[in-house]
Order: sequence, then C-alpha cells, then structure tokens
Amino acid sequence: MEQSIAWQISLLLILLLAAVYLYVVLNARHQADYAPIQTRAYRLRGRLFAASAALGTGLMIGTLVDLPYSVADQVTDQAVRVDATGHQFYWELSTDTAPAGRPVVFHVTSADANHGFAIYDQSMRLVAQTQAMPGYTNRLVHTFAEPGTYRILCLEYCGIAHHAMDATFTVTDAPLAAR
Ligand code: CUA
Repeated sequence: MEQSIAWQISLLLILLLAAVYLYVVLNARHQADYAPIQTRAYRLRGRLFAASAALGTGLMIGTLVDLPYSVADQVTDQAVRVDATGHQFYWELSTDTAPAGRPVVFHVTSADANHGFAIYDQSMRLVAQTQAMPGYTNRLVHTFAEPGTYRILCLEYCGIAHHAMDATFTVTDAPLAAR
C-alpha cells in the first residue's frame, strides 16, 4: 500500500521534472532580458524558502512531540517476556512460544559478538528487529497479530556461521480471555 503510493508520487515527480526539462529545451533559443527574470526568480526563491521553512518546522514539531517513543505504555501486565541471547552461532530463547494479540517483550543481548535480532513472518517479511549487543540488553516490544511460525535470523554478519543463526518462534492462537 505505502509502496504503491510512494511509487505514484515518484512517477508524478519524474513526469514533472521531465516536463520542466522539455520546457527548457523547447525555449532554449528564445532570448530575453536577464534583469526582470532575475528579480522574479529571486522573489520566487524567497517565497519558496519561507514555504519550505514553515513546512519543515511544522513537520519537525509534529513528529517530535511523541519523542521519546516510550515502550512502557505498550507493556501491560498482559505482556509476555522472552529473554533472547545471541551466540556464535545460535539463538538462546527463554521461551519460543507466545500467544497472539499480547505484547511480547524481548530482552535481547549477546554472549559474544554483535548480532542482529530479526523476526520474520511466514512470507519472510521482517516484522521487528533490534541489535543484540554484549553487555547491553535491548528491549523490543512486538504484538503478534497473527498466529504462526516465525523465524528469528541474525541481521548482522557475526562470523563464519552467521547464516546458521536461525531459530523458530511459535505464535499460538490468542487465549479466549485475551480477545
Ligand atoms: Cu549473529 Cu550474524
């Protein structure tokens, strides 16, 4: 969905750019006085700058008000805790099962090198990821909407058997009480 919108916007901008090029090429032979054009262009440039500054400031304020993004409000007493430790070359999970529809708090760390903790769904779409670092625990909160078998892969090259870091995580049907 977002990708097709992004594609349509890109296409529109490409066509717009092409139209500008075409206009310039077609009018290249036309001679005109420089001074009045310069005055108009400077006025336009000033307005464009003011408009972008206003838009940028608005966007910045609009996106910064929620910072810092807190995970605390997602972590209720319904949350499931999973300790995940990266090793060369496997994942150690305190549990490999969680119910759908409840926030799962992954406490992610590493016993040796840096790893990338990445959760993929059945169609190998990345659903959540964080860094697994030695001496530090990252909290990753994710609520699985769909039951199924997920895969936990390593996203950061960590040595010769990096590709072997492949664990499965099972999301079961939500218990009736939690629906
Ligand atoms: Cu662990 Cu790559």
